[in-house]
Amino acid sequence: MQNSKVKIINKPLIKSEAKIILNEIRQSPNITGYSLHELLNLKTVFKAYVDDNFVGVCANFDFEANWTELSAFIISPKFRGQGIGKKLFSASWADAISRKKNIFIVSRNPVMIKILEETDLKILSSFWQLPLAVIIHELIFSISWYRVKEFIRKLSMKKPGRFVFGIKMAA
Ligand SMILES: CC(C)(COP(=O)(O)OP(=O)(O)OC[C@H]1O[C@@H](n2cnc3c(N)ncnc32)[C@H](O)[C@@H]1OP(=O)(O)O)[C@@H](O)C(=O)NCCC(=O)NCCS
Repeated sequence: MQNSKVKIINKPLIKSEAKIILNEIRQSPNITGYSLHELLNLKTVFKAYVDDNFVGVCANFDFEANWTELSAFIISPKFRGQGIGKKLFSASWADAISRKKNIFIVSRNPVMIKILEETDLKILSSFWQLPLAVIIHELIFSISWYRVKEFIRKLSMKKPGRFVFGIKMAA
């Protein structure tokens, strides 16, 4: 795959793209994720295209006055490991920095944790070490029928390891 064929666009998901992401997230043991309605309502969304085919996404989900969570980060399986995830991550990261947002990221995916560890983030291994604004956001965010149903459905899926949390306070 030539890198020149990868295009990153900052635009909300259209319905067909949101359905692809919903389906991919449903198959991932690592993400509880968003409902279709929530995916369609994400405002800051970086989308990757290879030869005009939609292949992945990373969204900046703003919460509180000054926080954003880099989330819904997913690449279609056959396009993984080709550097596209890093391009999307860089675009999301640059957006958060330029908007002077505090950044929050959570993952249990080893590939994602590698990306986090290489980035200018403070890494935390316990949820309770997070700033209070993030703890409150995460607790409220998890109270949704969609996420509770997904959490239960995914209980039997094999999980790679513990969650790792990354934060960066705006300069
Ligand atoms: C996480 C994810 C988005 C990364 O996207 P990607 O396009 O595969 O990532 P990249 O190709 O840019 O690779 C990023 C780094 O991880 C490494 N990597 C990628 N796949 C790997 C694998 N299977 N095993 C080990 N390392 C791997 C790459 O070599 C690269 O490191 P480098 O820059 O030192 O070479 C993708 O793997 C994915 O969609 N996973 C499932 C959904 C998920 O768990 N998302 C994270 C939610 S928080």
